[in-house]
Amino acid sequence: MRHFLSLADAGAAGVRRILDCAHALKAARAGRPKGAPDDGARLAGRVLAAIFEKPSTRTRLSFDIAMRQLGGATITLAAGDLQLGRGETIADTARVMSRMVDAVMIRARDHRDLEAFAAASEVPVINGLTDRSHPCQIVADLLTVEERLGRPVGTTRWAWLGDGNNVAHSLIEAAGLLGFPLRIAGPDGYAPDAGIVATAQARGADVALVARAEAAVAGADVVVTDTWVSMGDEDGAVRRAVMQPFQVSGMLMALAAPGALFLHCLPAHRGEEVTDDVIDGPQSAVWDEAENRIHAQKAILLWLFGHLPD
Ligand code: CP
Ligand code: NVA
Repeated sequence: MRHFLSLADAGAAGVRRILDCAHALKAARAGRPKGAPDDGARLAGRVLAAIFEKPSTRTRLSFDIAMRQLGGATITLAAGDLQLGRGETIADTARVMSRMVDAVMIRARDHRDLEAFAAASEVPVINGLTDRSHPCQIVADLLTVEERLGRPVGTTRWAWLGDGNNVAHSLIEAAGLLGFPLRIAGPDGYAPDAGIVATAQARGADVALVARAEAAVAGADVVVTDTWVSMGDEDGAVRRAVMQPFQVSGMLMALAAPGALFLHCLPAHRGEEVTDDVIDGPQSAVWDEAENRIHAQKAILLWLFGHLPD
């Protein structure tokens, strides 16, 4: 049985198959109503439970729409409404849910809770964002870059600006698996986890932390950022002050390669990590990126259920 707790669970070959599948699924249903099932509806009869310990717009919607298009169904649950909040253990919850649904997606405050759930689960478990990582988001980002730039992601150069957060961690992991160069610039004290960087570098990836935003962006094909204050962060005022030099502005984008893309997982805080002219400008791919969450989730689900060739 497979889980998708990190990109490493799929490995380089698995991520490649997921991306190829997502491209094909998107192309095959062009023009169809959003809720109409795909031809073949490969997950007919399957049910996904989606548990949220934190708010979500895109992850919540895209998993539900993905399951509908694959012919299955989704039950969305607020973690606070479950008996979990009254002391039922994570392991017991996982055992019970394994008897009732075919897969579980969890957006968890603490990555260790996701791992504990997966350890006791008899059905596939998907990381829908934790404090540590957000692998589903990065599949959508890789898909968006290949679609918009028209070439394999392994041939593109990336820059990450701002907080070394959960989304950055999954991007670093992707760089390690797929072998694209990544420059990361952010303030002291907000660097990504050193172990995640070291793992990517040990896989041979050209991943490096640089001091200045300009150095990270120079010549990049893709410029990525995220909120300076993630869900659960409590030092918002300090973060907004120290991250200001890493704001993605038009002037900064001008240092990137011609035709470079701007990505942001959203929700964006306009005027903080990105200026309006960039997020609303021609280099921004954020709306494609958001839509691609659907196509990415579908391919991840098909991989989990063994529908993609090995
Ligand atoms: N990008 C993302 O995961 O968005 P939500 O928090 O709205 O799900
Ligand atoms: N880093 C952000 C991502 C939101 C999708 C957070 O964790 O809040």
